[in-house]
This record gives sequence, C-alpha cells and structure tokens, in this order.
Amino acid sequence: MSLFSKTIVGLDIGSSSVKIVQLKPSGTQWQLMAMGMAEIPKESLELKNQDVQRAAVMDAIKRVFKESGIKSKKVATSLSGDSVIIRYVKLPFMTAEELKGAISKEAEQYIPLNIDQVVLDFQILGEAQEDGQKKLDVLLVAAKVDVVDQHLLMLKSTGLTPMVIDVDAFALQNAYEINRLEPSEETVALVNMGASLTTINILEGNNTRFTRDIPVAGNDFTKEIQKEFNLKFSEAEELKKSHGTISMEEDDFSLSTVSQKDDRVLRMSDVMTPVLNKLLGEIRRSFDYYETQARKKTVERVILLGGSARLKNVNRFLANKLGIPVEHFGAFRNIEANKNIDAEQLAEKEYHMGVCLGLALRQMES
Ligand SMILES: Nc1ncnc2c1ncn2[C@@H]1O[C@H](COP(=O)(O)OP(=O)(O)OP(=O)(O)O)[C@@H](O)[C@H]1O
Ligand SMILES: [Mg+2]
Repeated sequence: MSLFSKTIVGLDIGSSSVKIVQLKPSGTQWQLMAMGMAEIPKESLELKNQDVQRAAVMDAIKRVFKESGIKSKKVATSLSGDSVIIRYVKLPFMTAEELKGAISKEAEQYIPLNIDQVVLDFQILGEAQEDGQKKLDVLLVAAKVDVVDQHLLMLKSTGLTPMVIDVDAFALQNAYEINRLEPSEETVALVNMGASLTTINILEGNNTRFTRDIPVAGNDFTKEIQKEFNLKFSEAEELKKSHGTISMEEDDFSLSTVSQKDDRVLRMSDVMTPVLNKLLGEIRRSFDYYETQARKKTVERVILLGGSARLKNVNRFLANKLGIPVEHFGAFRNIEANKNIDAEQLAEKEYHMGVCLGLALRQMES
C-alpha cells in the first residue's frame, strides 16, 4: 500500500456543515489533494430528536466523502464547546512519564466531573516557578466518556475508522502554524467564528495560553435577521450571505447611497451589530483574563477565520474596537493545491477550513 492510501483525512463535523480535507506530504510541505464541504440542514437539527439529528449529520458525512472523492476511511475528528473541558494548571514538577501515571489524581481538583467519567489528556507546556518551587505548566484536556463514545459510535456506523480525536481550538493552532512562514514570538489570538461557536486560542509564539468557545456566532446573526424580516431560517441565512454587512460609522456616505437602493442592508446591520458587540465583549474578557495571567504581555494581533469571518466588515469592526490589527486567515494560503481543485471553490471555502486543515495535519504525528 502506498503512503497516500493510508493517509488520515481531517473531518470537521461542525454545527452547520461537515468539512473534509486530504493532504499529501510534498517535500517539506503539504499539498492539498482533495477537500469538500456539505451542509447539515438546519431544520433537521431543530427537531430536537437525537436520531433525526444524527441521521442528518451522517448523511452530510456521506455527501462530503462523495463530493470530494476521498476514499480513505481513516479520520481525525474533533470536539468543541461544552463537550470538552480545557484547563491551564500548575502541577508539581515531574517527568512526562511520571505525569502519565499521576494525571488522573492531579487532574481531579481541576475537572468539575467525576474523574472516572472523563477521558483525560495533557500536554506539558513548560516549567514554572510558584512560591519558590519548581512546577510544571500543564494543559489539561478532559472529555466526557459518554460524549466520546457516542461520537466514535456515529463515525463507526458511517463506515469510518476514527484515528484521532482532537479539539477545535488546537486544530486551529496547527493550521495556523503550518501556514506561518517565519517563526514568531508574538502573541496572537486565533478567532474562529463558526455557526454556533466562536473559538478563541491565544498563542504566545507556538504555545497555547488560553482557549475558550464562546456560544455567540453566525446563527445568532441569522436569527436576528429572521426576526427582523419574518423569514425562515434558511431565507435569513441566504440574505445574510448575499447582502449582510456591518455598517461602519466612517462609511456613512457610501451607506446612504446603498440605503436608497436597499434599506434591508441597513436594517440587517442594525440587528447584527448588537450580536457582534456581545461577541466583542466576550473576546475582550478573554484577552483581559490572558493579560492578567501573562504579566506584561498583551494580544498583539487577531487572526480571524471561520465561515462568519466572511461577513463584510467584521474584521474592520473588531480592529476598530480592539485597537489592534485583525487579519483574515485563509487556511490554504501557503499550501499548494492539487490542480484538480477548482480555485474558485477553494477561495470560497477557505475560511471554513481552519479546523479541518488542522485535523488533516494530524497524520504527521501518527
Ligand atoms: N458570506 C457570508 N457572510 C456571512 N456569514 C457567512 C457567509 N458565509 C458563511 N457564513 C456563516 O458562516 C457560518 C458557518 O461557518 P463554519 O463553517 O465555520 O461553521 P461550523 O463549523 O459549521 O459551525 P461551528 O464550528 O460553530 O459548529 C454560518 O453561520 C454561515 O451563515
Ligand atoms: Mg466549526
């Protein structure tokens, strides 16, 4: 068997769509071999019936494999939101081997769940001093056993072989690092605005220092538009994607020109801006928390991605309010794409693909 047929593919099961990415090593870099994205119909998720929901997700998984032509069944997937608990803690100094044996005991006081009911993982981030004692900076990750079991069961019943279960925030970090051409010590915040969650990962150089999933994202914009215009969710979604924009005070002139033609643009902006302000408040709180922990370090730049980063002016709005540069991040900006991949499709989907690219990169470590 060739190396390529054994590759693990990244499969990001988001709340609005399923994404897939297959990479191939190419010299010291990677080549994008195939990708795809399949919507999960919102209506089926609103039925609150778990069997219907699972069937809708499984159907989207099947479609994304078909669309992308990917044959490998080995997948790296991820969890996010309430299903994972992430803690940055200081533990007594010991070797990684020792910590492996001691992790459940050490983690117990930090994880608000019965330790027997979670799957634990950890990463040593470095050494630290506390009260004159040498300590370890450790990243603890815990997921509920039954959530993991259900996730695995769903993948297996779709005919897939799960190889890796990651966390959205860490997959994003991988995707960002592979695209960064030069090493840097700067502190950046990755902000992935999806449909139901906005994931933040604050990095100092290559080290994660803070992560959080904020439950404010694209669906909240759509729901406001839905109410304002009395539309179905799918109609509001279309309107947002085609005409949605966040109006900026300094653009008054151009907006008044627009408003003569279409006051829907302004009304949409008016109902979406409070949602964005709420998200901004949560982003600020996260930065404040990091900055009080980090002493003297501040977040220098925001890297914006996720489908909702496509909403017009979101980057400008955040840059204005936060007072730091906010840069869009396309997942494949430094990854060569196979010539079979349509450039237009690639450009359109790139913002959605951060987590998925990070997952596809996990094959390197396995
Ligand atoms: N052109 C656009 N303008 C505004 N929003 C857009 C645009 N295109 C897509 N979106 C929004 O992007 C969101 C989907 O992004 P993404 O694929 O990153 O989410 P997801 O991974 O499915 O969700 P989550 O990670 O929250 O579970 C939707 O809310 C969608 O409305
Ligand atoms: Mg997502």
